[in-house]
Amino acid sequence: MRNVLVGLAAAALALACFAAQARAVDEPLKNDEEVAGLFASVCGFCHEDGGRVAGKGPQLMGTKRSDVFIINRIKYGKEGRMPAFGSILTDAQIKAIVRYIRDLKPE
Ligand code: HEC
Repeated sequence: MRNVLVGLAAAALALACFAAQARAVDEPLKNDEEVAGLFASVCGFCHEDGGRVAGKGPQLMGTKRSDVFIINRIKYGKEGRMPAFGSILTDAQIKAIVRYIRDLKPE
């Protein structure tokens, strides 16, 4: 439990940093590199190596989940396990992240 709390605190911090950046830019993500950077800063703490391997959260590369499942998980999180990002990320950013996850290849 303690690890989860530490993880959530770290994720919250990462989000705060990202939110500050996002406000400054405040425009849609332009390219794959930006999406990868967004994923790394917001999700990478738990979904390691860009989502390619399991860390505190499961591996996302090669997921069999539907787009709707992934979008809802990002928006609403999972109680006690994964934070909700619906008030932090725009719908366009979430869509871009789903595309990013689908395009993941082993490095
Ligand atoms: C604080 C750690 C943490 C952060 C940050 C986090 N996740 Fe998660 N994520 C988890 C955990 C833990 C699970 C597994 C929850 C469960 O089903 O028990 C999970 C599950 C998922 C799943 C479902 C995987 C499956 O097949 O069941 C997706 C998709 C996902 N995360 C995407 C993301 C994305 C995208 C981000 C960034 C916007 C993100 N996560 C940020 C911890 C995190």
